[in-house]
Amino acid sequence: MKIEELLIYAQSKIHKDYARILLGNLLNLNPLELLIHLDEEVEEEKVELYKKEVEALRNNKPLQYVLGYANFYGNKLIVNENVLIPRFETEELVENTIKYINKFFNKEISIVDLGCGSGAIGLTLKQKLDNINTDIVLVDISEKALEVAKENAKNLNIEVNFIKNDMLEDINKKFNVIISNPPYISYDEDIESIVKENEPHLALYAKDNGLEFYKKILSTVKKNLKEEFLIAFEIGHTQKDEIINIIKTHLENIEIECLKDMQERDRMIFIYPKNLLK
Ligand SMILES: C[S@@+](CC[C@H](N)C(=O)[O-])C[C@H]1O[C@@H](n2cnc3c(N)ncnc32)[C@H](O)[C@@H]1O
Repeated sequence: MKIEELLIYAQSKIHKDYARILLGNLLNLNPLELLIHLDEEVEEEKVELYKKEVEALRNNKPLQYVLGYANFYGNKLIVNENVLIPRFETEELVENTIKYINKFFNKEISIVDLGCGSGAIGLTLKQKLDNINTDIVLVDISEKALEVAKENAKNLNIEVNFIKNDMLEDINKKFNVIISNPPYISYDEDIESIVKENEPHLALYAKDNGLEFYKKILSTVKKNLKEEFLIAFEIGHTQKDEIINIIKTHLENIEIECLKDMQERDRMIFIYPKNLLK
């Protein structure tokens, strides 16, 4: 089949933009380049693969899983069904964390990314904080998620350490920065079917009304904090007050700042010692 015929076939099943993105990805052409090659024949193997991908998308599979990658903070990250597709809000978490780090620290810092999934947060911090000497550990309880994060680190030529672990349990090392986008969806929350049916539930849901992992991390976090520290959390947009209460039961002499995302929703919490501001 020719490129044009394939596009016509796909557009009868999925949105035309997706039809172009998928075929462009398969043929290593950008969607616009496709349009100047409309008459070119596509080899049979690729035709079959394309049809399978179109069908997968039609059956509610997220585009990023079909493509095999997601764009995050200027990088292409490998993603598959074992990791959450990194979200735009998490780019905002990373962007703001970089601002705090540059404000508070200036030489060597140690960072841990709890629940690293594809590695989106930890790998981006290592790459973008090139003005500071960073020692970064990526933690996940899922071996399969760690495999994806390791592959992303290799592709991006980024050196970090990986640990398969249950959050901070049994880790005694102290860090300057503890960052996490933990699972925070309550089991009874109604979420989009495309998310619920495809993304790993281990990455989405948490007990205790979605607060399980904030409680788990904060209840023992003191043992892992250096004197000068920053804790950065992504949160669900209704969880701010409850999480602030949890923070206050476990930490003293701290500043807590909650930032909103682009949609004006409370989505990030930053905690640091009061005396770090001096
Ligand atoms: C919301 S996803 C975040 C993934 C990635 N950090 C991001 O922002 O795209 C949460 C991650 O936490 C991991 N996770 C779940 N329970 C965990 C636990 N007890 N200890 C460590 N990681 C856990 C999941 O496997 C998943 O990768």
